[in-house]
This record gives sequence, C-alpha cells and structure tokens, in this order.
Amino acid sequence: MSHMRVFITRNIPDIGPAKLRATGWDVDQWHSDEVIPRATLLEKVKGADAILSLLTERIDGELLDAAGSQLKVVANLAVGFDNFAVGEMTERHVIGTNTPDVLTDTTADLAWALLMATARMLPQAQKYVHDGKWTTWGPLLFRGQDIHHATLGLIGVGRIGAAMARRASGFEMKVVYYDAYRRQDLEEKYGYHYASSVEEVLHQADFVSVHTPYMPETHHLINAERLKMMKPTAILINSARGPIVDPKALYDALHNGTIWAAGLDVTSPEPIHMDDPLLTLDNCLIVPHIASASMQTRDNMSELAADNIINVLSHKAPKTPVNKDAVVAQGLG
Ligand code: GLV
Repeated sequence: MSHMRVFITRNIPDIGPAKLRATGWDVDQWHSDEVIPRATLLEKVKGADAILSLLTERIDGELLDAAGSQLKVVANLAVGFDNFAVGEMTERHVIGTNTPDVLTDTTADLAWALLMATARMLPQAQKYVHDGKWTTWGPLLFRGQDIHHATLGLIGVGRIGAAMARRASGFEMKVVYYDAYRRQDLEEKYGYHYASSVEEVLHQADFVSVHTPYMPETHHLINAERLKMMKPTAILINSARGPIVDPKALYDALHNGTIWAAGLDVTSPEPIHMDDPLLTLDNCLIVPHIASASMQTRDNMSELAADNIINVLSHKAPKTPVNKDAVVAQGLG
C-alpha cells in the first residue's frame, strides 16, 4: 500500500484517528475543540489523500482545488452532509461519506428528550427550584402538555424519524407522518398514518418533529404561514438542521402563543447569537447540537469515518458513501 496522507480537522474520539495512525500513513490532525480557520484548513489539506471532516467545514470547489487532484475521499463525522458540495466532489471523482445508522437511536433519544422536557416544562421547573421559588405543592404549577395518547407528527420518516416513531409507540401515541417517499411498510407494520402534505401533519399533530435533510427545498420549510397551521398547544422539535425553521417566524409564534413551545438541538445560525430573541423565551429550549453526543455513538461515528477512509485508500468500497458515482469512477463499486 503506498504512503497516504490523511488530514483530520478537529479533536474527535481517538478510536478513528488511532485506527488511521495504525496503518502507518501520515496522519495529521488539527488538535483543537474549535473550528479550524478556513485559511489554515486550505493550507492543511494540500496534498491530502483523505480528509476526515466535520459539518463545520465546507467541502466545496475551493477546498477541493486546494487539496489537489490526489484527494480521494472526504469522510464526514455526521450523517448530514449539507456541508458537502456533492456535485463538485463527484465531478472530481472525490468520494464523500457520512455516518448513518450508528447515530440513529442516540439522535432520536435526544429529540425525544426535547419533546418530553418541553411538554413538561423541565427547564422552567428546574430554574424555579434553583431560584428558591418552590414554597408549596401547587395545583397550577407547571402544567404542561400530555405526551401519552397525543399525536406525534413527523416531517420526514427516514431512519431517525422512524426511530422517533418507535419511541412514540411506548406512549401509545398516534403517529402521523409526511415524507416525499410514502412508507407503506411502516403504515402496515405499526399503523402510522400517512399525511399527503406537511400542512396536514401540522394541522393534526400535538408534537411536530422535523427529520428532513437540509437542502434548498427544505429551507424555512417551517415558516410563519405553516406555524399558524399548528395547534396553540403544539410543540415543535427540530433536531435536523437549523435553517429548516425560520427563526424569526418561530420567535413570533412562541412569543404570541401561536404555538406552545419549541425544543431545538439546531439553530440558524449556529452557534446562536447571544442577542437572538429566541434566547429570551422560557418556552424555547435550546441545546448546542448534541443529538448524537453519547460516548458510545461518538466512538462509533469516529470509527466509521476512519473505516470509510481506510477502505477507499486501500482500494475497497467505502461503507457509507453519499455519492456512488464517485465510487464507480474510482473503480471501487
Ligand atoms: C449531526 O447533525 C449529523 O448530521 O450527524
């Protein structure tokens, strides 16, 4: 096996980098918990055969040109790959890979936690206790929304959406979903209800959870008009990508009581600016894009990203490519 150069753009769980170092290849890493400055990134990728990237790195024509024509694979440590200019990668026969499956349940767990925490007002209740306001048991205190027997509306029922639906079954919820691809298998097996549009989901659901990829078609999919279609008691959960929801419209909807609450793992922009009005609202729970952040899953993501690189640089098909045409073009598929 010829000598290969790999660049890793951040500190990540070492299981993947260790596997890459064990090959004897030249493995360079940006040892920081902060985003690598773009100019440094463009410098560092020069001559790399493989890049292990995060969703914070834009993999576009400029970066691919800076890397050079020997670049064979960019392995994203994420299932989403909206940071990839896939067309430009494929044109240059650069394989892109992501980390699906290994993070499905962990991500759904966090989305579910947001759903439960917003429904039962846990952040507000914790603050109340910490602020020394708990003087008595109160019949009017922190009355939330029931989760059991409510209707969960899913926008997108891919791997993570389906995992969310499985969690709902334990709470005896009705599941209504919209997806460009109708999943009759799930309807027959679990009794999920298909809605013919996003709007129909919004009208029916007590909880709306977004699980679509981010692309031009899903930019501000949840906008002012659509938020008005939700019930005033409804809760919006976004663990997909921030810009799928219009943040100004969401602020208005939460502030005016158009909807009851929101739980966000993702924001637009990311990180959220400290003067963003969403941060002034009690009924908006925001966490810093941590849905796949468990010890085990982050190890699994690191290992899968490394395995994808090892496969491609060893002239084998990657486990989880996002552009099969580039796999074929490299003669690996
Ligand atoms: C995280 O957001 C991911 O896409 O894995």
